[in-house]
Amino acid sequence: MSGLRERFGFLKSGSTPRLSELFAVDPDRLANLSLTEQDIYFDFSKTHLTPELIANFVGIAKAMGLDARRDDLFGGRIANPTENRAAEHTAERGEGAPDSVALAKQLHGRMRALIEAIEAGALGDIRHVLHIGIGGSALGPDLLVDALGRDIGRYDVAVVSNVDGAALKEAISGFDPHKTLIVIASKTFTTTETMLNAESALGWMVEAGVEDANGRVIALTANPQGAFDWGVDETRILPFSETVGGRYSLWSSIGFPAALALGWTAFEEMLEGAAAMDRHFRLAPPERNAPLLAAFVDQYYSLGRDAETRGVFAYDERLRLLPSYLQQLEMESNGKSVTFDGKPLDANTGAITWGGVGTDAQHAVFQLLHQGTRLVPVEFIASIDPGHEFDDAHHRQLLGNCFAQGAALMAGKASEDPARAYAGDRPSTTILLPDIDPRSLGALLAFYEHRTFANAVLLGINPFDQFGVELGKEMAKGIEGGNMIFDASTQALLDKAFG
Ligand code: F6P
Repeated sequence: MSGLRERFGFLKSGSTPRLSELFAVDPDRLANLSLTEQDIYFDFSKTHLTPELIANFVGIAKAMGLDARRDDLFGGRIANPTENRAAEHTAERGEGAPDSVALAKQLHGRMRALIEAIEAGALGDIRHVLHIGIGGSALGPDLLVDALGRDIGRYDVAVVSNVDGAALKEAISGFDPHKTLIVIASKTFTTTETMLNAESALGWMVEAGVEDANGRVIALTANPQGAFDWGVDETRILPFSETVGGRYSLWSSIGFPAALALGWTAFEEMLEGAAAMDRHFRLAPPERNAPLLAAFVDQYYSLGRDAETRGVFAYDERLRLLPSYLQQLEMESNGKSVTFDGKPLDANTGAITWGGVGTDAQHAVFQLLHQGTRLVPVEFIASIDPGHEFDDAHHRQLLGNCFAQGAALMAGKASEDPARAYAGDRPSTTILLPDIDPRSLGALLAFYEHRTFANAVLLGINPFDQFGVELGKEMAKGIEGGNMIFDASTQALLDKAFG
């Protein structure tokens, strides 16, 4: 199998029946294309997947070595060949090579002990937690705390990522420096934005007269020596394994603010939910395997129908940060142009992930989804439990809108007036959770991780490196150091901004 065009040629041949026709000819369509796993209902029936297409995709997955690659992933073998290392995020939830699982457990134990010490007042009266990190060291913890911590209120957690001082200013507004814990989250402990924010946050504490401000700093990192050299005491460094990738790291000590804010039991439940999804991905037959089916949908639209993007809409305010989290997970993982072994690819790889929150998005961007010229496969995520005490009318309207959008995209509507006609036949997937609780969220996020991995297997690419982010970083350092020669246009910008 060489290029993607040849491998996925079957997607471009033959007719493409409308969704309504697919339902009409197959009375079992809903049963065949929906499944419930960990109480999460996945409905792929409003996509153009058919049993025949699934069989073709399964054949490709097998030919691309799905079983071996999955075994490598869960077995702690080299799943990331360009960096010659394993990708062991599943070991964090107990599903992996025994040694790695044991290490993860030990490091979790350390995290738990520190949380208990903080709760017991070992670091003083802590009310506020300033979590400093970027990319995978911020998006996951931010999502967890925002989704699950709303009613808990054990600590106020603010996550700051952007190096723009305005972001730090906003994050600490309302925080009492005498009651604040600074958490520096960085796998490498070298990321310039994080290090500058950490220095400024520490400066803010020192200026406010906090005694032993350094003693209120915690580091979450795979580079404990770097954290130590920066000035964090060993007892407050929570390491995690080098083999856990940044965008897959919320299960490790990077999840510390969530474990602190939500409590250890909640954190463990989240890990258990993810572990259950790991087992599903590993053991379920391909035709009933949620991450695999989702990846088949992704490739059907990307390579079969040339969709450039996929839209993700959370019909639940608690999941408002999910689209940004998924953007990193999916785009940093699968935004690649060469194969696993370095050969150029002849078609698109990872789609552009974007999205928002329903119902807000309906009044802003859904026009294009319904009547625009571009095909955008849509994903809706909703929860049966509302998570609030307001009148049931709110949740009925929210979910009613969510389901109506999927139905409308599929059905369309004829009109004599072209401006008022809806072509319909626009695909969507719906994921319905029982509630936004730690277990379900853990399972959902593990589902997304494995779907991303399954897409990478189908495409023959490595989802675990991210060399594409390096050049910009190098050039930014060049600007900082003043020792790099830039093109005329960039130089003009530098002159205007810095004189
Ligand atoms: O620049 C991209 C990246 O390396 C991400 O992969 C990572 O999640 C983020 O930066 C932060 O890196 P670190 O945790 O090492 O600070």
